[in-house]
Amino acid sequence: MALFELSERLQKLPPYLFAEIDKKKKAAIAAGRDIINLGIGDPDRPTPQFIIDALTEGANDPATHQYALDNGDPGLRRTISEFFARRYAVELDPDSQVYPTIGSKEAINHFPLAYLNEGDAALVPEPGYPPYRSGVIFAGADPVLMPLLAENDFFPDLGAISDADAARAKAIYVNYPNSPSGKLATKEFFADVLKYAEKHDLIVVQDAAYAEMSYGGRALSILEMPGAMERSIEFHSLSKTFNMTGWRVGWACGSADLVAGLGRIKTNLDSGIFTAVQRAATAALEGYDSFVPGLVEMYQGRRDAFCDKLNELGLKVDPPEATFYCWIACPEGYSSTDAASRILEEADVVVTPGLGFGPSGEGFIRATLTVSAERLVEAAERMAALDW
Ligand code: MLT
Repeated sequence: MALFELSERLQKLPPYLFAEIDKKKKAAIAAGRDIINLGIGDPDRPTPQFIIDALTEGANDPATHQYALDNGDPGLRRTISEFFARRYAVELDPDSQVYPTIGSKEAINHFPLAYLNEGDAALVPEPGYPPYRSGVIFAGADPVLMPLLAENDFFPDLGAISDADAARAKAIYVNYPNSPSGKLATKEFFADVLKYAEKHDLIVVQDAAYAEMSYGGRALSILEMPGAMERSIEFHSLSKTFNMTGWRVGWACGSADLVAGLGRIKTNLDSGIFTAVQRAATAALEGYDSFVPGLVEMYQGRRDAFCDKLNELGLKVDPPEATFYCWIACPEGYSSTDAASRILEEADVVVTPGLGFGPSGEGFIRATLTVSAERLVEAAERMAALDW
């Protein structure tokens, strides 16, 4: 019936990947099966108590009860700017170059509405986080997919982008540390992206949701690179760093013009983040040193236990340099969807088929390190025990 016909923009999108996987997981659990969930990247550990205490204190202060509006709590913006100076040696003006967001998913989805028009294009990595594509499509523009292939170390081949696509494009998206591949950016790669962006007059959108989850030393912010601040916006998230996925809080930072453009969209779309949540986010960043290194160490232990076991049992995986995702080659002769289905149906383990992240994700499945090392070893044993 025409009344209920979805908009063309929505029809261009498949159902949201993780919502679909969640449905299957819930059905399997409801059927009484002992499911090990390595699907969505949602930390299994609780938010640290000092952050919950800051929320409670904030919620008890009537000054937090009204619309937050504007570009966020000044205390949070100042704390983000101090954090950035300490962590990345990048100076950000808290008033014009930092903007708290309702997690990074909404901001990534909404940002293109500020800059893309119908007929524009944006260069988007695949396999990649689905909102890069959906945000561009919601803005009426076309995503041009840049494959991230193992043979290119999961970096896009900028030389392979056609002149016509480069001319039509208004933005290039990158995501390092990268989901799903677990790769870190190098200075050379970010320098190449910025050079390419300058040549083609592109905005650079960098998703840094996993910036604080790196096992081989600190990950880079693109904003550290010369020339980046003029044309880049970087999205950060407290979700994974502080076990706060449900709280919906992150921030955008970078070029004051791009941050202002995002702000123009957001002030029309939302009314800000609950101020008590912003105060809790402030406490989180202030308590970074007391919490985050231990969390990263925990994931590193899980990564080593899981990847060692998989490799020992004949399933091939390169341990991720960063993120809590393992990008595992599908057993010979299996598509990613078939492999993930068998793993769920016969091993009671939820993994994400690589195809769900884009066509070049075919041949891989993604497993998330969001259960204990013991359960991860059990998951590896169950997966490897199938007769591939
Ligand atoms: C993922 O699993 O890739 C992400 O956690 C999904 C999300 O952040 O929405």
